Amino acid sequence: MSVEGKKKQSGNKEKSLQPPREKSARAYLKSLGEYEAMHKRALEDPENYWAERAKLLTWFKPWERVLDYDFIDNPKVEWFKGGKLNASYNCLDRHITGKRRNKVALIWQGDPEDDVRIWTYQMLYDRVCRFASALKKLGVRKGDRVVIYLPMIPELVVSMLACTRIGAVHVCVFAGFSTGSVQTRVQDAEAKVVITADGMFRAGRVMPLKSIMDEALKDCSSVRRVIVVNRANMPTTMRERRDLWWRDVMADRSLDANLPCAHMDAEDNLFILYTSGSTGKPKGVRHSIGGYLTYAAHTMQLVFDHREEDVHWCTADIGWVTGHTYTVYGPLLLGGTTVMFEGGPRWPDPDRFWQIVEKYRVNTFYTAPTAIRTLIREGDEWVEKYDLSSLRVLGSVGEPIGPDTWNWYRNKIGGGKLPVVDTWWQTETGGIMISPLPFATPLKPGSATLPLPGIDTTVLKEDGTPASQGEAGHLVIKRPWPGMMTGVFGDASKFKETYFSRFPGYFLSGDGVRLDEDGYHWLLGRLDDVINVSGHRFSTAEMEAAFNAHPAVAESSVVGMPHDVKGEVIYAFVHLTLEEKPTESLRADLRKWLRKEIGPIATPEYIQFVNGLPKTRSGKIMRRVLRKIVSGNVDELGDLTTLSDPGVVDELLGEWERLTGKSVLS
Ligand code: WT7
Repeated sequence: MSVEGKKKQSGNKEKSLQPPREKSARAYLKSLGEYEAMHKRALEDPENYWAERAKLLTWFKPWERVLDYDFIDNPKVEWFKGGKLNASYNCLDRHITGKRRNKVALIWQGDPEDDVRIWTYQMLYDRVCRFASALKKLGVRKGDRVVIYLPMIPELVVSMLACTRIGAVHVCVFAGFSTGSVQTRVQDAEAKVVITADGMFRAGRVMPLKSIMDEALKDCSSVRRVIVVNRANMPTTMRERRDLWWRDVMADRSLDANLPCAHMDAEDNLFILYTSGSTGKPKGVRHSIGGYLTYAAHTMQLVFDHREEDVHWCTADIGWVTGHTYTVYGPLLLGGTTVMFEGGPRWPDPDRFWQIVEKYRVNTFYTAPTAIRTLIREGDEWVEKYDLSSLRVLGSVGEPIGPDTWNWYRNKIGGGKLPVVDTWWQTETGGIMISPLPFATPLKPGSATLPLPGIDTTVLKEDGTPASQGEAGHLVIKRPWPGMMTGVFGDASKFKETYFSRFPGYFLSGDGVRLDEDGYHWLLGRLDDVINVSGHRFSTAEMEAAFNAHPAVAESSVVGMPHDVKGEVIYAFVHLTLEEKPTESLRADLRKWLRKEIGPIATPEYIQFVNGLPKTRSGKIMRRVLRKIVSGNVDELGDLTTLSDPGVVDELLGEWERLTGKSVLS
């Protein structure tokens, strides 16, 4: 999509809101001036700035070089080369030797209200050591990949940290994915061991996981062992010599409850997390131990203004990067208390979030605009019942939040005074990149404001020249930061191709942005064929490949259709093979197919059967035209003279109106 095609957002002229004075006295950064000074220093002397921030971690051996990188010829980035450390040591061991030993590390709130587990650092350490010891016994070695396909239960955190303890690389796969997506990821990662559960709770219902994994594993020869947590008491088939119950694994009295941790290189992989790009194949984004952890601790401290006594709650599923960085690593590295919630915002009632905030006196709260918009629709009375006075910082992430949602969040949840930090970042960036500092940065509703210290953002036009103030362009980043991805797993050329080839010398985010007169960033959404449904990222190419694999489908094209609550929904144009007839039952069947291939989160909202797709004379599908059609915006259809059959557009529009009940704006 061209940058110019992105709509301007309103609201940037609004008067900025000053940070709350009385709270800023104790903050890490107390004023815009302090932020500016730090940003300047970090840009002028990055090596010393980041070396200082890396002291948030405990190192077994200091690094020899802070940074080595190339953003042009042979893109690479190496942080803290020569340094040795361990992630689980930094999250656990160093806390239990001091005052934090009996401090609560994890508050786990199950989907059923009475299902609660509260673990101290000591308790978490014990489980992590024993499970790490078990993995070792099962033959997991340094560098081996372990796929973790678990719901939001404490065993998920134990599994991640246990991997890091022995130097194995965790690969979390979101439990909302199903067979096809799980299989691609397990295969690509060449996982040796898989950790899953019999099933999962969601809004009072039970859903299977192990059977999905079994199906996926039919074609994954690398997997030797499957460890299964009993979460839902579901009937489960266990394959002999391959499958083991978590309970039995942990019952082994010979496991080492003080298993020494591996001394890892700063540059080793900490984890791989798959993310959708513009191609059909998801990319395994690699993150390093030294750089990623430094950045997780650093941003946790600055953006949430983290304090020792805080209760921090990030509502994201740990299957996504937000949960990795701000439910697990950020809080635990700083010795904080993190809340993990198994359920969703609307069950049993749409007050679940606020009830949990009150119950645990949550101080820093981090969620997604889609969740906020869902709750706005349910009515303010669900909020007003609760005492939310423990809250100090409100965070937002995943998509542009828009001034209306922003204002409701601040007014209804934040009592009209709490700082709302709209944080922009990506799986690739490892941690927050653009965000207000809660007690330093004046806020503008709907803007992610300014880059964090040392983050060198730039806006480029299509032709690679810098955009001027107010002009929309590509958001790129001019130099490395410690949280930055270090590569694409198993594909050396993808890193350069995806992130550095469009504008050599710059890391390409794939997002559009516009800067206002104060240099504030207004994010405009993706510029590539990635769509964002409820804060989850999908590649349209991946969904098209799934559709096209169905025997009834000749050809398909998937685009995002704007939606009030979810941001975007999935809209599919499907051209059937000659012998197939478009019927409602086929539509239902295709929906089911997508759910099975990718996951319930990828259920298309609309499937439109077509007699033909708009194509250029050379046979290329004109996605630009399809995107306009689903937004009902025919005035901006642009030049259609290259279309081989211009009549197809009216036909598509007519059927779009019928399917969605909307009408064309003109
Ligand atoms: C994409 C990254 C790490 C965040 C969770 C999603 C969009 C993220 C914002 C924001 C506008 C945002 C971007 C980005 N995005 N945060 N505050 N304002 N857009 O991680 O799955 O890697 O998706 O989410 O489009 O590229 P992800």
